[in-house]
Amino acid sequence: MFFKNVFLIFILVSKSLTSDLYCNKESISPVADPTTLPKLPAEFQTRVQATFNSERTVEFFLVFDYYDQKAEIITQEEIEHDRRVFYYDKNEYFTISNYRKCQVKKINESFDEFNFFGLVYGPDGAINMKPVNDLLHFNNEFPHMYVGQEVYRGIPVKHYRSCQDWIEFNANFLIDFYFSVSEFEQSVGFPDINAQVPVASVIKGSLTRAGRSVLIENTYEFFEFRPFVERKSDLYVQPSGVFCHNQTFKGEMPPIPRSFSFTEEILINDKKMAKSNKVYYSYDLKAIRYDTLATKNYRENAPLKIIHDFNSGVGFVIDEFIGNCSIISLNNDQDSISLANSAGLALTMKDPNQFFFIDDTYFYAGQRLERGIICDVFVSKRTDFKGMIDKQPEYWVFEIYFMAIGQVMESSESEHPVAPIAIKITSSDSCLKVPKKSPKN
Ligand SMILES: *[C@@H]1O[C@H](CO)[C@@H](O)[C@H](O)[C@H]1NC(C)=O
Ligand SMILES: *[C@@H]1O[C@H](CO)[C@@H](O)[C@H](O)[C@H]1NC(C)=O
Ligand SMILES: *[C@@H]1O[C@H](CO)[C@@H](O)[C@H](O)[C@H]1NC(C)=O
Repeated sequence: MFFKNVFLIFILVSKSLTSDLYCNKESISPVADPTTLPKLPAEFQTRVQATFNSERTVEFFLVFDYYDQKAEIITQEEIEHDRRVFYYDKNEYFTISNYRKCQVKKINESFDEFNFFGLVYGPDGAINMKPVNDLLHFNNEFPHMYVGQEVYRGIPVKHYRSCQDWIEFNANFLIDFYFSVSEFEQSVGFPDINAQVPVASVIKGSLTRAGRSVLIENTYEFFEFRPFVERKSDLYVQPSGVFCHNQTFKGEMPPIPRSFSFTEEILINDKKMAKSNKVYYSYDLKAIRYDTLATKNYRENAPLKIIHDFNSGVGFVIDEFIGNCSIISLNNDQDSISLANSAGLALTMKDPNQFFFIDDTYFYAGQRLERGIICDVFVSKRTDFKGMIDKQPEYWVFEIYFMAIGQVMESSESEHPVAPIAIKITSSDSCLKVPKKSPKN
């Protein structure tokens, strides 16, 4: 892929020994009082265009959130869309390719050019991101000076300069920083935020690679820099309908109540089919009701109320529009399990865990908003589910949504504070939203 050869994003990866000095720190004069330098926000998002020695340009979208210890990088190259999400709180680094393929590594054990948010070990051994000043090499321990006000990309900017040694890379760099003047309003105005934001930084200098001194000139242009993260809840959550391989963080799944209702949504993309059912389940009443639309056997698209009554051992299917009703057997039904040694003659209802396919295979996938309710989502990859299609996919992705603690459900009759709100089942064969290849100018 395109990025494989890019060795420098914000850091340099180089095994050099010595380096000629490119700039000297005496030239940085007068040294600016650090409190007069623009303040970098601890949380921001921006598009970055990085140009390496005028030879290669890389564009990416960057989200940095020091408060939540999370970061995200999105790249789009032809039809390849890659999203990398760093969860420092969980030490997990997700790579999601083309919206579908997802794999997870430990941040402290994966080294690639995108893993540049640094690693600082806290006193308890927990890993943390580098603070923003270290990430952008601005207002760090090196001297900075104010050069003057200029115009960059048509934007009135304040120009600052610094000379820095990056010892771990045996490098010496002269860095020019351009910040918007605080009165300048960005094209998308945020009237409340009148901050100076980075417009560009240019790194020039030398490092020694393979015994030779190499000159480097890299430019980082920042577009649409926002000193906050928009749509935080979307950005940090794992994509829906995708199973991320090698995830390790399980979280704690709440117990399933004995009675509940939820909306079940089954997406079968290769058939362009989405089915949404409302499900009412009561283990105490030994009954389950589904509100759904008929697909086969009954009037097509008829609104059906299906009741599985395990007290009487029969089911009822009611066409809510016409009002007629059919009686069905509960044998071979997804909700039924036949009792041992009864040769299928005695049925019982699946208990709440069996009903939800709940076992120890679930991973915590973060919080999502579902019908206006903040939910904790748990995800599992399963092959023991029979979908409504003939050809079984390699696996199904099960996502169970529990209302996050701290919210009160209207008309909640159960004593449990956490109720499942939704379950989403996605076939691994489905192919979501892969963008069409578009010619580049
Ligand atoms: C990475 O962190 C984990 C804890 O999350 C630890 O068990 C592991 O040993 C660390 N790996 C390295 C190479 O330091
Ligand atoms: C998951 O981890 C195992 C062992 O570390 C590795 O062999 C496998 O390739 C990983 N799977 C994916 C999809 O990354
Ligand atoms: C209701 O009647 C219609 C028309 O006779 C029939 O097609 C349908 O299958 C019936 N539905 C149920 C639930 O019995």
